[in-house]
Amino acid sequence: MAHPPTQSQSRAANKPKRSNLLRCIAIFILALIILVGIAVIIIWLVLKPKRLEYTVENAAIHNFNLTDANHLYANFDFTIRSYNPNSRVSIYYDTVEVSVRYEDQTLATNAVQPFFQSHKNVTRLHVGLTAQTVALYDSVPKDLRLERSSGDIELDVWMRARIRFKVGVWKSKHRVLKIFCSPVLVHFSKGKSFERAPCDVEL
Ligand SMILES: *[C@@H]1O[C@H](CO)[C@@H](O)[C@H](O)[C@H]1NC(C)=O
Ligand SMILES: *[C@@H]1O[C@H](CO)[C@@H](O)[C@H](O)[C@H]1NC(C)=O
Repeated sequence: MAHPPTQSQSRAANKPKRSNLLRCIAIFILALIILVGIAVIIIWLVLKPKRLEYTVENAAIHNFNLTDANHLYANFDFTIRSYNPNSRVSIYYDTVEVSVRYEDQTLATNAVQPFFQSHKNVTRLHVGLTAQTVALYDSVPKDLRLERSSGDIELDVWMRARIRFKVGVWKSKHRVLKIFCSPVLVHFSKGKSFERAPCDVEL
């Protein structure tokens, strides 16, 4: 007649089962990590986006008025060419902010309408900025007067955009794109032709 298994016998019987389960879980987790890793590598390879290209194609200043109290009024117009050289990656520009600076002082800021840029697309942004009673400090007013009398002004254009990449139906999280164009030499007289200014793009 068989004896019912003692406690120590049943524990011994459970042991291999439990370690099997643990092994299964370990293998599952490992497989998951490898799969996620492969997915990340694939996304990175696909996404590894070619650098977006930005150029200032045209620029103008209107109604420039620097008062005796060193307050600046002016309108700036920029045509900025945005090129997406990627053949698979499209871009959502959810917010785009443009500012014009002179010697580290921001003269004016404006937002651009959000837009979607498909692959290989060229989009021209026409940005108007208005400096209204901007108080200038340090050597800025003196230098601006000098540049005004010379007929050209050297400006910097900064852009900051929150973008998402789109590949097929997959959309990335938000990333911040920084664009910096310097120097942008703007002529006061309309007769002179504008020289394109390339921009640095940082992601
Ligand atoms: C410049 O602005 C000042 C102050 O608003 C004004 O008095 C003056 O007429 C303006 N000058 C020109 C040329 O617009
Ligand atoms: C780029 O996209 C914009 C907006 O969809 C469109 O108006 C424009 O024609 C496109 N340009 C090129 C070169 O494909």
